[in-house]
Amino acid sequence: MRTRFLGTGFAVPDRVVTNDDLSEMMDTSDEWIRTRTGIQERHWVREGETGVELALAATRRALEMADLAPSSVDAIVYATSTPDHFAPGNGVFLQRALGVGTIPALDIRTQCSGFIYALSVADGWVRTGQYRRVLVVGAEVQSTGMLLTTEGRNVSVLFADGAGAVVVGPTDREDRGILAFDLHSEGAHAEKLWVDSPGSRYHPRVSVEQIEAGRQYLDMDGKEVFRHAVARMPESVRAVLAATGRTTADLKLLLAHQANLRISEMMQRTLCLRDDQVYNNIMFYGNTTAATIPIALDECVRQGRIQEGDLIAMTAFGSGFLWGSAAVAW
Ligand code: COA
Repeated sequence: MRTRFLGTGFAVPDRVVTNDDLSEMMDTSDEWIRTRTGIQERHWVREGETGVELALAATRRALEMADLAPSSVDAIVYATSTPDHFAPGNGVFLQRALGVGTIPALDIRTQCSGFIYALSVADGWVRTGQYRRVLVVGAEVQSTGMLLTTEGRNVSVLFADGAGAVVVGPTDREDRGILAFDLHSEGAHAEKLWVDSPGSRYHPRVSVEQIEAGRQYLDMDGKEVFRHAVARMPESVRAVLAATGRTTADLKLLLAHQANLRISEMMQRTLCLRDDQVYNNIMFYGNTTAATIPIALDECVRQGRIQEGDLIAMTAFGSGFLWGSAAVAW
């Protein structure tokens, strides 16, 4: 038995923030941001709008495509590095918002690789027969955790808010569905892209001193992240395809984590992929962390760029460092 996709959906806040808008908050420019990252605009929440609300909107669209009622979901796997609260995780808030029974809700904290890791858990549950219909969500609100001044500009021009959701279930067809995963971590680089505080190693977990030092903001060594991302994602795509006995020549579409258009372009060159074999939408959404892949997936499905039988690869790299890929025969 394999796991196939039954429905996809996404949602972003309706507040659009352009590069020119950012130039009014900090010393940056549309030209710098476009040249270095490819990003033109992104969506940020309005005050009071939450990650779970975005996840709920994305979930409703995925369920509608799958022609399923919320009550038919057997389990939730929710990937986010930006939960609405320290505890509990967002999974239970989504379970409550969906108005479903006491189904399990698991939170995954693997940042930009969150959707790939969440999908691998859902795939295991479906293939072992433990749950038949699993909702997999990747959703983030990054905008409330960034320093919106010149000091924080290397991070705050990149990251944004959004949610993607898929519903997966079993298929008897050996040649369809999720074929393989390739998952990795390397904690030696944990502090190269991280949020230090609040944390339970501190007494108290958050203090005025920490806040004044800005340790609650996402902190990144951009050059190091770039260097590892452009090596690890292609390596992982090759590995996951090899596990299925295929190569990049067989690939209909690569859906890569949208971290920086320059990273995606470099990866495309390394893997010798044609333009029609890759999909980029970072120009309009920025880096939405765990949400980038399911957002791109939903756009491609609705645009008819993915047809039955097509070989798709998904790949992600980010904070941890954590990275991984999935190969899917649609
Ligand atoms: N606007 C204008 N100038 C900026 C800027 C901004 N938003 N951000 C940084 N700069 C400045 C720096 O202050 C620096 O100025 P200086 O030379 O006077 O000191 C200069 O631009 C170069 O900074 P640097 O950090 O070396 O730039 P870079 O070429 O490495 O590009 C990133 C920065 C963030 C675009 C790039 O490192 C990157 O994309 N890294 C990967 C990030 C990523 O993908 N993260 C998510 C992974 S999941």
